Amino acid sequence: MIELRNAGKMYRQGAREIYALRDVSLVIKKGEFLSIMGPSGSGKSTLLNLIGGLDQPTSGEIFIDSTPLHGISDNELTLIRRRNVGFVFQFFNLLPLLTAAENVGLPLLLDGESFSLVKPKAESILRKVGLGERIDHRPEQLSGGEMQRVAIARAIIGNPAVLLADEPTGNLDSHTSEEIFLLLKSLNEQGQTIVMVTHDPKAAAYGTRIVTLKDGTTSQDISIGGEES
Ligand SMILES: Nc1ncnc2c1ncn2[C@@H]1O[C@H](COP(=O)(O)OP(=O)(O)O)[C@@H](O)[C@H]1O
Ligand SMILES: [Mg+2]
Repeated sequence: MIELRNAGKMYRQGAREIYALRDVSLVIKKGEFLSIMGPSGSGKSTLLNLIGGLDQPTSGEIFIDSTPLHGISDNELTLIRRRNVGFVFQFFNLLPLLTAAENVGLPLLLDGESFSLVKPKAESILRKVGLGERIDHRPEQLSGGEMQRVAIARAIIGNPAVLLADEPTGNLDSHTSEEIFLLLKSLNEQGQTIVMVTHDPKAAAYGTRIVTLKDGTTSQDISIGGEES
C-alpha cells in the first residue's frame, strides 16, 4: 500500500550534511499495525513524515498505492495526503475554542462539508473512541487521555487508508498510555492500518510488526507471531 524504495533524508546545515534517514526500503501492507521503534534522534519522525507525505525525501522514492509521491506538485501531494493519511501527534494539537465534536469534524468542515452533516459523524466517531459523554466539552475540560482520543477521532473521521501516530502517548502517564494503545489496537482489529512511532519497546509490542531504526536506517524488522526478515 505504501512503499519506500531507498528513501533518504539529508539536511544541510551550513557546510555540514546531516543524514536523518538513509536508504530505507519498506513496504507497509494494508491492515498492519506497524511500530517504528528506535532511540531519540534515530530518524523515526523523519520516516513517519515521509510515509505521510508531510515531507519529501532527498533521495529514493515513495509510492502510495503505486502512485509516486515524487515529481508531483505540492497541491497534488496535499490532496493525496488528505485522502489517505490521518496524523496523531504527542501534543494533541486541538483547537482550544472548539468543542470535541467541532475539533473532530474540522477536517471535513475544511473540505467543505456542512456542520449539520459533519456533527452526527463526529459524534459517532467520538462514541467509537469512548467519548460519547464528552461531545460538547472543550479541550480544557478534558483529561490528557481524552484529548488524545479526540485527536485520534479527528485523524480517522476522513476514513484514511493509514493512521500515523508519532509518540502518541509521549505526554501521558503509563495507565492512560495503555488505554490509548488498546484503543489503537482495537481500531487496527477493525481494519485500520496504523503506523506508530515510539521509543518504548512495551508500546511497540502493541503492533503486529516492529521495525527498529538505528542511526537513520532500519536495523530489524519483526512480525509479531511471525518470523524476522
Ligand atoms: N530540520 C532539521 N534540520 C536538521 N537536522 C534535522 C532536522 N530534523 C531532524 N534532524 C536530525 O535528524 C535526526 C533524526 O531526527 P528525528 O527524525 O526527529 O528523530 P527521532 O524522531 O527518532 O527522535 C536527528 O539527528 C535530528 O537532529
Ligand atoms: Mg521524533
